Amino acid sequence: MAKRIQFAHTGGSEVLELVDVSPSDPGPGEVRVKNEAIGLNFIDIYFRTGLYPAPSLPSGLGTEGAGVVDALGEGVTHLKTGDRVAYAQGPLGAYAEYHTLPADKVVVLPDSVDFDTAAACLLKGLTVQYLLRQTCPLKGGETILFHAAAGGVGSIACQWARELGVKLIGTVSSPEKAALAEKNGAWATIDYTREDVAERVRELTGGEMCDVVYDSVGKDTWELSLDCLKPRALMVSFGNSSGPVDGVNIGILNQKGSLFATRPSLNGYADTRERLEMMANDLFTMLESGKVKIDIAQRYPLEEAGKAQDAVQARKTTGSTILLP
Ligand SMILES: NC(=O)c1ccc[n+]([C@@H]2O[C@H](COP(=O)([O-])OP(=O)(O)OC[C@H]3O[C@@H](n4cnc5c(N)ncnc54)[C@H](OP(=O)(O)O)[C@@H]3O)[C@@H](O)[C@H]2O)c1
Repeated sequence: MAKRIQFAHTGGSEVLELVDVSPSDPGPGEVRVKNEAIGLNFIDIYFRTGLYPAPSLPSGLGTEGAGVVDALGEGVTHLKTGDRVAYAQGPLGAYAEYHTLPADKVVVLPDSVDFDTAAACLLKGLTVQYLLRQTCPLKGGETILFHAAAGGVGSIACQWARELGVKLIGTVSSPEKAALAEKNGAWATIDYTREDVAERVRELTGGEMCDVVYDSVGKDTWELSLDCLKPRALMVSFGNSSGPVDGVNIGILNQKGSLFATRPSLNGYADTRERLEMMANDLFTMLESGKVKIDIAQRYPLEEAGKAQDAVQARKTTGSTILLP
C-alpha cells in the first residue's frame, strides 16, 4: 500500500484526505514513478475548488513530480526502470508516493538536476519557456509586464527575461515581494495592491507602454492589463488566481488599441513528446548555466498538502512550493 492525497468533493483544503491505496500497474504506454518530490501549483487549487472539473470523483490531485521509474507498461522504449525522471502533465494524482501516467509525459532528468529542483520547476519552467520563447518569441529589448512576479512562475520569468535582455516590470503585493522580484532580475516592480498600475507603467516606459502583458491573476487585472499595452501589442492571459476572466466583449481589444489576445496553456504547447523534450531541454540548459535558479521557498510533508495550498492561496508564499512524500 502507498499514500496518496485525494478528494471526494470540491471545496476548501479540508476536502483533501490522505488515504492508503495500492499503486496501479502501468498499462500499455504507461510508466509508474516512485515520487521523491512533488510540485505544488495553483492549478491544483482550481481542481480542488471545482473551477476546473476533475474527470471523476474521488480524484487524486497534482500533475507534477520527480522520482525514479519503478515499473514500465508495454511498448515504452525511451525509459527504463531506475531512470531519474520528472513530469508536469497528465492525469491528476501526483500528490502521492507513486504515480502512474503516460510515458510520453515523462522526461529523463540530467544528473545536474536534483529531484526537489525538478519538482519545483518543471511545470513552472516549461510555462515560462513557452510564454517567453513561443507565445511571443522575445528577442531582447522588449518591455513586458508580468503579474505575480515573486511567485513560482514569476520568479523564473524574472530571471529568464533578464537573460533575454527583456525589461520585465513585475507586479507584487508587498515590499518584500518587490525586493525578491528585483533580485531575480525584474527591471522594475509595481505594488498592484496600492499603485495605479497603468500610470506607473506609463512613467516607467516614458509613455511607450508594454509590448506584452503576461497576466495570471485574471479577473482582478484583465482590464488594467489591457491599459498597459502599446497599440497592436499582445495580451497573454494565462491564469485565474483571483478568479476567471469571463464575459469579455471582444470589442474591448479594438477600444484599447487594436490589441491581440491569447489564452494559452502548457498542454497546448507541450502537446507531443518531441515538443515536451525540446522545451525541457531549453529549461535544463537555463538551469545548468546558472542563469535561472529555482527558489524552493516552501517544503511540506505530503500529508500537509492542504496547509501548503492554503499558504499559496493566501498569497503567503514566494518562489516554488514542494511536497515531500
Ligand atoms: N496557463 C498555463 O499554462 C499556466 C501554467 C502554470 C501556471 N499558470 C498560472 O500562473 C499563476 C502562477 O502559478 P504559481 O503556481 O506559480 O502560483 P504563484 O505565482 O506562486 O501564486 C499565485 C500568486 O498570484 C498572486 N495573486 C494575485 N491575486 C491573487 C488572489 N486573489 N489570490 C491568490 N493569489 C493572487 C499572488 O502574488 P502577490 O501576492 O504578489 O499578488 C500569489 O502569490 C497561476 O494563476 C496559475 O494558474 C498557468
